[in-house]
Amino acid sequence: MRTILILAGLSLWAIAATVGAQQAPQLREDNIAEVVKAMTLEEKARLLVGGGYDGLVTSGAVMGRQTKFVPGAAGSTVGFPRLGIPHTLMADGPAGLHIDAHRKGETRTYHATGFPVGTCLACTWNTRLVEEVGKAMGNETKEYGCDVILGPGMNIHRNPLCGRNFEYYSEDPLVTGEMGTALVNGIQSQGIGVSAKHFAVNSQEGDRERVDEQVSERALREIYLRGFERMVKKSNPWTVMASYNRINGIYAQCDRRLLTDILRNEWGFNGIVITDWIGVRQDLPIEDAVHSGDDLMMPGVPAQVTNIVQAVNDGRLDIEDINLNVTRILEYIVKTQNFKGYQPSNNPDLQAHAAITRQSATEGMVLLKNNGLLPLQINEQLDTVALFGVCSYDFLSGGVGSGCVEVPYVVDMLHGLKNAGIATTPQLTEIYTRYVEYAKVKLQADKNPWMWYLDQGQPKLDEIEISDRCIAHEVSSADMAIFTIGRQAGEAMDRTIANDFNLSSLEQDLLFRVSDAFHAAGKPVIVIINSGSVIETASWRDRVDAILVAWQPGEEGGNSVADVLLGKANPSGKLTMTWPISAYDHWSTQNFPMEIDMYSYKSMERRNRAIKNVNYSKHEEGIYVGYRYFDTFHKQTAYPFGYGLSYTEFTYGKPSVKFKDDVVEVTLTIQNTGKMAGKEVVQVYVNAPEGGMDKPAKELRAFAKTEILQPGEKTTVRMTIPREDLASWDEAQNKWVVADGTYTFYTAASIEDIRGQATLTLK
Ligand code: BGC
Repeated sequence: MRTILILAGLSLWAIAATVGAQQAPQLREDNIAEVVKAMTLEEKARLLVGGGYDGLVTSGAVMGRQTKFVPGAAGSTVGFPRLGIPHTLMADGPAGLHIDAHRKGETRTYHATGFPVGTCLACTWNTRLVEEVGKAMGNETKEYGCDVILGPGMNIHRNPLCGRNFEYYSEDPLVTGEMGTALVNGIQSQGIGVSAKHFAVNSQEGDRERVDEQVSERALREIYLRGFERMVKKSNPWTVMASYNRINGIYAQCDRRLLTDILRNEWGFNGIVITDWIGVRQDLPIEDAVHSGDDLMMPGVPAQVTNIVQAVNDGRLDIEDINLNVTRILEYIVKTQNFKGYQPSNNPDLQAHAAITRQSATEGMVLLKNNGLLPLQINEQLDTVALFGVCSYDFLSGGVGSGCVEVPYVVDMLHGLKNAGIATTPQLTEIYTRYVEYAKVKLQADKNPWMWYLDQGQPKLDEIEISDRCIAHEVSSADMAIFTIGRQAGEAMDRTIANDFNLSSLEQDLLFRVSDAFHAAGKPVIVIINSGSVIETASWRDRVDAILVAWQPGEEGGNSVADVLLGKANPSGKLTMTWPISAYDHWSTQNFPMEIDMYSYKSMERRNRAIKNVNYSKHEEGIYVGYRYFDTFHKQTAYPFGYGLSYTEFTYGKPSVKFKDDVVEVTLTIQNTGKMAGKEVVQVYVNAPEGGMDKPAKELRAFAKTEILQPGEKTTVRMTIPREDLASWDEAQNKWVVADGTYTFYTAASIEDIRGQATLTLK
């Protein structure tokens, strides 16, 4: 009897278990609809809200990073073991994987490779190379157990003062779209997702969570969305990150026209939209965000789950909106490594990736000036350098904020030169080295808790005075001077004109005294710009012999600079943004909010004074961003868009332009007519017929980078421009229009250096 009862009990349990299993399907690629059906409303709401992290929660805003799974990763999606749904992990950022290098209780480290920042990558104009960098980043992300890297950063450099320009590529949407595509394709080839950000019009950091970017439909389409559009169509990103700001009154994070009508319906995006990291927003009802097509609230706070459930129960939110977003998130999850059960090694090949970063950085560096001194011929007359500038000894490999990387090391200028066999003068080296040691200790002691964004990454140390006596001593013991000018920037703060865009008086005074003293002795002076974005050069460039923009080139920085200075790598980077004479020369500067920074969060009074909207049409700026403005209105630049010197020379052949199957093909020969092997970046600018619209004088419509050409070697460069890429956004018709008429195609070495032209009439 007892046995029978036990057997009956067992079979009842078996039946219950079977029913249970039937009621709880386990997630597979092909049963997503079934899983959605099996989820409770609470579970669905929890899936739409990120897993949060154990950081600080202040007045609805969330700060910190998650530590549960991979310490330092920026956030996670919630797992549901009942349904076989694993958590997934998202980590910053555009210059490499941002996770904590140190873990509690462990002696080993988890460093990631610091690759060149976005501006440096873009200035390579080499999409193949950027794709390789993406592969290495994707591989590290996978081997450290994360699923998505929060990048590429694809906002337009509307103004050089934006604090995050270093994470972005260019003032031009074609360059932005092509670089974004390359990086996405590289990362995603490793089975790792991306989050292209910050969608959209996140052109400044000041008051970024509230600012209303008022922008015309034409500027939106032609400038601010076009790069994203290109990348979405060419690379199928897994996720896109909706930015904090408002656009024409509506938060991007609840803008259905942006996130659904344009992104998905017009461009065919089929991934998920995630919010940029924010908590509950008092002035953004959660139902608006969910309904807009904003699938995942990151990093996620519990109140958002309650709010979603409440909104459904109150009838403010349709369950079908939720089901759609849940379905899309599950479609994302089944692609991830965490879902596939990949066991990360936690040992990516950091050495191999260091080699990639060293080479890609040299290709992105831009030689602004060279009076014939470079490449340096090291010999007995020229082998000792007086190395000035704090950043020579504390070189900035990347920016600060979420986009920083906890790198294993940074090769500074001192060691880069030393590795290349160049000595530095002992006295100056000692002064700076000691100061850097001291300043780092002091910095730790002076940490400002409100500056937590900037505490992520390598801060820039203050410059120091060097006396005339010391300079005189250096002149007598060195063959030349190298002066590194460093700049740091990052999240939540824009740059200032004084002491940042412009040199500080200390820097300028020191540079002038150094150049006067060295030149008086017939010894040259080289400036290295170690900054993620543009600085003023016009007031001091005549005082020096060579200027190399090294950007923030990643952990191998000093080695990469030495490779260029010595000609081991022939510079082939060109500017993807205009270098103006004065910061005020950009049209947008008239309407760029200054002095709104992280400090404004400290005092409500200052915060409330912060500018809440920025009108891009005021002063007629509109589409006239970057070179579109300087070129059309004949405004002089310090260095124009597309500019960069080489150690060799290239001769451009006459271009031929053909139109077939709705595609324009521009062909020309490029010959290396100089004495050193090198690569050239060829640009095609187009002047389009007006077709009843006001148009820029020229717009970049294609570019190519040659392979290395030996002296005398010639190659044929073929570039294609699909007809629709010639279109402008016609606000009257609310669509892209390719005007009838004659188009002029300029083949050029920069926007100001036109080498050939051909015309074509389109109907
Ligand atoms: C930044 C994002 C970043 C996120 C997660 C935000 O503050 O704007 O770019 O991906 O934090 O760290």
